[in-house]
Amino acid sequence: MIRSRIIATGSYAPPKVLTNFDLEKMVETSDEWIISRSGIRERRIAEKNTSTSDLGTQAALRALEMAGLAPEDLDFIITGTNSPDMFFPCTGCFIQAKIGAKKAAAFDVSAGCTSFIHALSLADKFIKEDPSRKVMVLGAEIMSKVTDWTDRGTCVLFGDGAGAIILAGEEGERGILSTHLHSDGALWELLYMPGGGSANPSSHETVDKGMHYIKMAGNQLFKVAVRALADVSQEALKYNRLKSQDIDIMIPHQANTRIIEAAAKLISFPMEKVFLNIEKYGNTSSATIPIAMDEVQREGKVKAGDLMLLCSFGTGVTWGSAVIRW
Ligand code: ACO
Repeated sequence: MIRSRIIATGSYAPPKVLTNFDLEKMVETSDEWIISRSGIRERRIAEKNTSTSDLGTQAALRALEMAGLAPEDLDFIITGTNSPDMFFPCTGCFIQAKIGAKKAAAFDVSAGCTSFIHALSLADKFIKEDPSRKVMVLGAEIMSKVTDWTDRGTCVLFGDGAGAIILAGEEGERGILSTHLHSDGALWELLYMPGGGSANPSSHETVDKGMHYIKMAGNQLFKVAVRALADVSQEALKYNRLKSQDIDIMIPHQANTRIIEAAAKLISFPMEKVFLNIEKYGNTSSATIPIAMDEVQREGKVKAGDLMLLCSFGTGVTWGSAVIRW
């Protein structure tokens, strides 16, 4: 059987660190509140003149280097992002041009923080269609530029970064075993950015009202997120006839440690097998999972044949999972 195997990973986070102590000087908050409510200690912030595609480009180059591939070898570049360089063209096209992946078809996926899993699911289908293809999947974000730095309810949570993986068709047991995707658009008001689109085109008024910033009902979203992560993880296990104990490592979307702990508890999944790096990066939206995949790969926390469970939720509301034999 042909499967889509992850042959390389790469990630990049901008060097500038913003700690909880820095935030204490910006809004009424405390390191103690942020760490106890979210698990975040610091996050990375991109420079003013940096675009999302710049972060994606660095992650892409690192993945290509690990794969030993040239940019021209890529057939697709699928980028999950909620903070694109521009409305159009897509951020993937900028990444394509910056790395010189002349042959690749590039497009973006917008499904909130779950975008990376949606992109991964598409990549799997492209490879099943033609196993000779090499497909790059990215999650890349500069959330700091859509964050209201006066809103303590959101500004402590988000960060910037990018992760990339490369998939190739391979005969055997290793690779993507399943993906499951869901959404409930009726819950859109839990997390949204109202300004700049066709509903509220950019104007002095939209800017004055701060409509170009994230709006979030954190408390309500918290409950939806716990249920979504638990349900979609259970769905993935059941589909693959697996039990929690069969999974070697779970990489959940890094939005809040308490959300992850509550979801893991609901499905009796041991926290020792859950990978967390939220402490260092905060919530980098669709980039959290590919950044984590790169870290576990480079730090030797996964080995060939391990079973990995990815699960995510995000604005939309969307949620999804993937099971991978590494
Ligand atoms: N510092 C200090 N106090 C704060 C802060 C802050 N940064 N933010 C809020 N508070 C206050 C509130 O004003 C409130 O005060 P009150 O009781 O006097 O009204 C109190 O803390 C409790 O607020 P809650 O919102 O109930 O706190 P909660 O325990 O729910 O934690 C949090 C808030 C961290 C935002 C949590 O709800 C959460 O993580 N929700 C999910 C958010 C999320 O995951 N978003 C992204 C998902 S999709 C994606 O990744 C793009």
